[in-house]
Amino acid sequence: MTGADFTFIAAMLKERSGLIITPDKGYLLETRLGPIVREHGLRSLSALMDLLRQPGSDAVRAQVVDAMTTNETSFFRDSHPFDTLRKSVIPTLIERRAGTRALRIWSAACSTGQEPYSLAMILKDHFPALSGWKIEIVATDISPSVLDRAREGVYSTFEVQRGMPIQMLVRHFEQVGESWRIKDDLRRNINFRRANLLDDLSALGGFDIVLCRNVLIYFDQPTKTRILGAIAGRTAPDGALLLGGAESVFGLSEAFAGLPGLKGVYGPTGKTQSKPAKPAWPPLPLPAAS
Ligand SMILES: C[S@@+](CC[C@H](N)C(=O)[O-])C[C@H]1O[C@@H](n2cnc3c(N)ncnc32)[C@H](O)[C@@H]1O
Repeated sequence: MTGADFTFIAAMLKERSGLIITPDKGYLLETRLGPIVREHGLRSLSALMDLLRQPGSDAVRAQVVDAMTTNETSFFRDSHPFDTLRKSVIPTLIERRAGTRALRIWSAACSTGQEPYSLAMILKDHFPALSGWKIEIVATDISPSVLDRAREGVYSTFEVQRGMPIQMLVRHFEQVGESWRIKDDLRRNINFRRANLLDDLSALGGFDIVLCRNVLIYFDQPTKTRILGAIAGRTAPDGALLLGGAESVFGLSEAFAGLPGLKGVYGPTGKTQSKPAKPAWPPLPLPAAS
């Protein structure tokens, strides 16, 4: 692959998905795009680049973007955010939504579904009082292939053993041959949809809780700022955003500020410009997360 090819594919990926690919990660192109090269009967990665440059190659471009996404995930990933949700965020929002008895939650880069299913299990196991509420979990991703897997809700033994307590496996999954399928009552509760975080997200509506975890790390600073602003526009003024362990709003956006005592949880400030602001969460007393 030539330098011009690299510049072309890096620009295309950034424009279409936000993904930043630097020359030291060039090997990822070889490993992830190799199957597409073979599928289209091409001789090399350069030939694929030539195909992508042609007008009318939109389907192959989409296939390339999909293949370049990193979909690493697990049930109850990092455990701490899910403890915070269970002990602090969800109880506080239940109190605040007692009038409307409705909660909308968004898993904004849901990959193969482990994140929204973890949430659904927590709601079902720990908040029986929500059974008469209107609860909606919307789970989105840019990648159609991971969404297909998420909708199917079938996982290998290795996948279910990573991070999920055995009692939850027994309660919420049924064994199908060598695999485990999430039970229908949880699957039905999740609305899986394709959405690119770079696009207009207004059709998704507003949310009380947003999980946007382990995806901003792939973007450059302006893209992170832009996406945080867009998510703020979709988050209730007293709602909450959870980011991944290596992610923060610090230095990127004034649209959110950290909630006191809740690591990795942010509340919208109502600000889009660089002025110090406070989120709408205090003064409600929040139990410590751990
Ligand atoms: C590493 S996974 C994180 C999954 C899950 N949130 C977690 O923390 O375990 C990142 C996901 O972000 C998705 N993604 C990448 N760029 C995206 C974009 N522009 N819009 C929406 N999703 C995107 C990828 O397809 C991938 O499934």
